[in-house]
Amino acid sequence: MRSGGRRGERPPLIGCVPVDTVDFKPGCGTQSAGAGSHARTKTVQRPYGGGSACPTTGLLPDVRDRRDEAACSAGRAVSATGHEPLDRDGPDQRTADGRVTRGRRNVHALTDAGPAVDSAVVLDRFGDVDDLKLQPVPSRPLRATEVRINVAVAGLNPVDWQIVESPPLAAAFGLDLPMGFGNDFAGVVVETGTSVRRLRVGDRVFGGARGRAVATSLVLDEDHPSLHRTPAEISDLDAGILDIAGRTASAIAAALSVRPGETVLVGAAGGGVGSILTQLLVRGGAHVIGTGSAASADHIRSLGARPVPYGDGLAAAIAASKNPINAAADLHGTETAEVALRMGVPSHRVVTIEADASPTGVVQVNGSDATPDALERLLALVADKALRVPVAATYPLDQFHDAVVHQRSRHVHGKIAIRISAGSAICARGSRP
Ligand SMILES: NC(=O)c1ccc[n+]([C@@H]2O[C@H](COP(=O)([O-])OP(=O)(O)OC[C@H]3O[C@@H](n4cnc5c(N)ncnc54)[C@H](OP(=O)(O)O)[C@@H]3O)[C@@H](O)[C@H]2O)c1
Repeated sequence: MRSGGRRGERPPLIGCVPVDTVDFKPGCGTQSAGAGSHARTKTVQRPYGGGSACPTTGLLPDVRDRRDEAACSAGRAVSATGHEPLDRDGPDQRTADGRVTRGRRNVHALTDAGPAVDSAVVLDRFGDVDDLKLQPVPSRPLRATEVRINVAVAGLNPVDWQIVESPPLAAAFGLDLPMGFGNDFAGVVVETGTSVRRLRVGDRVFGGARGRAVATSLVLDEDHPSLHRTPAEISDLDAGILDIAGRTASAIAAALSVRPGETVLVGAAGGGVGSILTQLLVRGGAHVIGTGSAASADHIRSLGARPVPYGDGLAAAIAASKNPINAAADLHGTETAEVALRMGVPSHRVVTIEADASPTGVVQVNGSDATPDALERLLALVADKALRVPVAATYPLDQFHDAVVHQRSRHVHGKIAIRISAGSAICARGSRP
């Protein structure tokens, strides 16, 4: 599950997908129309966002006409991005231009007036990132307390592809097929449910939406714990890649509680979590020794740490160091933790975050251990230019597969971002777009 390696890449999708590759949950009244069903349905090429899909089935008219139209009124389908039953008699809706439409009519009002079809990266079987597809999905009506967010930037994390490969991991996050993909996002609120009070259309927001972020839009409850306002001076790019890595780095720094002058060994210091953690530790007055390949050395140095190679030479490289190691954070397996323990670091000052079987006594930390204000604090540092969120690469949505393969290589230096809408231009005095 954790092995790296680049897989064969698919040709990028350029603006169109075969509509009849859209699959739906069994029982929604339509048959799966994926591979193997071409004798029954024709393939329709359609630009993303065009047409007016049935809000229940997501079928565009060309296909819908030749399917069971009853499925469109049965209301039993599940949105591939929302994982929620569509609400045929749903609450009143407030659209981006301020109109309020009521009850059942909303379903079609949305498809007539708004973006009836979103594009989302969707998974309909577990196993391989090659099974991820960018496809049209129905844009479902909002419940009273929900907001619709147009996604400007979605950031990737290892857990995204790990979920694709592991049904138990998906289940642990409450995800089931068909599901969306990704977690970190930043964007703008484009529609609010009738009871929404805290957010308004036009508000910039960021956070985490597990299994949903790599999409043109997503729906969250306004009180979702991972939905935050984006500070005015912060770009969508910085905010959209922060959720998992930022919370995790913050939780590790808190668990280590390093004192100024101490030396900390960080394994995989140049990755998504390590790039933020290393800066936090250096900022706190620590000397950081960071492991990485030769290709990471400059990046690790730029974070304020001294690079050392991981692998067989690690213990010798650390032993040659003038300072004793006081604490360690292992962000890749257990090698760093084991070396630190061998060098006498007490186990309560050694942290791991990904090991299935950590050495006895070390502290296991998760992103969920972060304090509720962790991201706010990090963004305050970003705004003060006291912290940067290094971007290894950005990809357009239609090249999401290349982005995932890059992330899965396990040799990323910083974070990978997928730019989804021009919303990222709405940002940030003096910050990067
Ligand atoms: N428990 C949690 O809540 C939690 C939260 C976030 C992440 N995680 C897990 O923690 C791990 C790190 O996350 P991340 O986002 O930082 O991943 P990442 O960005 O993919 O990490 C990439 C880094 O790992 C380094 N690396 C590759 N092979 C290595 C090795 N054998 N030894 C040491 N370093 C190596 C790479 O350095 P080179 O390019 O120089 O090889 C690269 O800089 C992932 O497995 C992730 O799933 C857990």
